[in-house]
Amino acid sequence: MDFFEVVEKRRSIRKFLSKKIEEEKLLKLLNTANLAPSAGNLQAFEIFLVRDEKKKQMICKASYNQDFIKEADVVLIFCANPSRSMKWYGERGEFYALQDATISAAYVQLAAAALGLGSVWIGAFDEKKISEIIELSDNLRPVAIIPIGYPAEAPTKKPRRKLNDLVKQV
Ligand SMILES: Cc1cc2nc3c(=O)[nH]c(=O)nc-3n(C[C@H](O)[C@H](O)[C@H](O)COP(=O)(O)O)c2cc1C
Repeated sequence: MDFFEVVEKRRSIRKFLSKKIEEEKLLKLLNTANLAPSAGNLQAFEIFLVRDEKKKQMICKASYNQDFIKEADVVLIFCANPSRSMKWYGERGEFYALQDATISAAYVQLAAAALGLGSVWIGAFDEKKISEIIELSDNLRPVAIIPIGYPAEAPTKKPRRKLNDLVKQV
């Protein structure tokens, strides 16, 4: 698949097979996350990788019972680390850290699609509970949870806005 096919074919996947992700594929996912652009190349984010069944169960609960999360082989939690960017950019660094984390998570979703894997962005979660489950230090903020596994569904394409509505020429 070329890049545009990957973008076209990616869907949010909420049903997963019990099949494990091969280590080689997992490494590719994580390398892709590491290649994402970041403000000043400071990479003001951290990735927590969860495979532990008990922790996955707790993550489901902390994500308002989105139970499909635990069916994914791997759950990645992208956390902003503002202290890395605030050293250089002051207050603006907080904003950059959120963007650094989200861009990397988006890269991972595309890499997953390219590798024949499925993923979904989880934004609805209790930040405090997630922080407790993965024992985050106070300077880190969970931004996105990305469960990844082999897809057990093939959802149809969701509609998007018309370009002339989305894009305003100024
Ligand atoms: C910021 C953000 C938060 C989201 N939160 C959730 C979520 O908590 N649970 C969920 O099932 N999907 C969540 N999604 C996935 C969206 O529902 C999905 O991307 C959208 O419906 C478009 O479908 P598609 O990804 O298949 O194109 C979220 C996506 C984004 C970008």
